[in-house]
Amino acid sequence: GKVAVLLGGTSAEREISLMSGGAVLAALQAAGVDAHAFDPAETDLHILKEQGYDRAFIVLHGRGGEDGTVQGALELMGIPYTGSGVMASAIAMDKWRTKLVWMASGLPTPRFAILDASSDWEAVAADLGLPIFVKPVHEGSSMGATKVTEASQLKGAWELAAKFDSLVLAEEFVTGQELTAPFLGERALPLVRIVAPGGNYDYQNKYFTDDTQYFCPSGLPEALEKDIQAAIVRSAKVLGCRGWGRADLILRDDGSFTLLEINTAPGMTNHSLVPMSARVAGLSFEALCLEILAGARL
Ligand code: DAL
Ligand code: MG
Repeated sequence: GKVAVLLGGTSAEREISLMSGGAVLAALQAAGVDAHAFDPAETDLHILKEQGYDRAFIVLHGRGGEDGTVQGALELMGIPYTGSGVMASAIAMDKWRTKLVWMASGLPTPRFAILDASSDWEAVAADLGLPIFVKPVHEGSSMGATKVTEASQLKGAWELAAKFDSLVLAEEFVTGQELTAPFLGERALPLVRIVAPGGNYDYQNKYFTDDTQYFCPSGLPEALEKDIQAAIVRSAKVLGCRGWGRADLILRDDGSFTLLEINTAPGMTNHSLVPMSARVAGLSFEALCLEILAGARL
């Protein structure tokens, strides 16, 4: 049957999604799948039903695509889709509620505060300790995020994040190694260790520089990698994630780790980490896309 690759969309991560979606589309077509691109920013998705599409591969990042909205529309049309369902997509898009679920499940995540215009900036800085990450609750790719090193910068960082979102999170900065952990179904793929220039794994260093170093295999002791992978599988399970995704975390020097977030439709660009990890697990980009597609559900 025909497969609709959903890409683009209206979020701040549109450009990334066009790159991810283009790569997925090309891979599926190369594998002989009758796949066609649809951009919900331009096309009413209801034509998928009329045009006889029987599966959708979601490569939309951010709100209006990765957050349960498109998943709900596909549910109503009865078209099976890749990745998480409505609830898990919605929770995972919300960094605040994700933390609440993880905390209730005994999973580690950095301490935080929700900021608003009336926040006591000094008190937030005293409570969380500096530096602090300020981020929009519902964004990805470090959009609107700032690493604050002085309490006096908190208000400006909040103002920037508030341009992207009505909810803004301040998160304790955890010193350690940045790791990302893709999962495919209930299986954790090899961890990727990220070493960004100056320790800033921001929008630029995620997609556009070649100065960020990625290590996969991660080089971590095998037992530690296994422990982390088990926690990742559980962190996805308690949110209700399915199909595929990627958790981001920090590994402290003492060997403990803390979970930052889960991306339910993570990047698939040529700088992206799920494809890199899959390759180490023996899956080509094409095989990865086919396996994600095979997991499409209603
Ligand atoms: N939100 C971006 C696309 C990612 O996590 O890969
Ligand atoms: Mg994200």
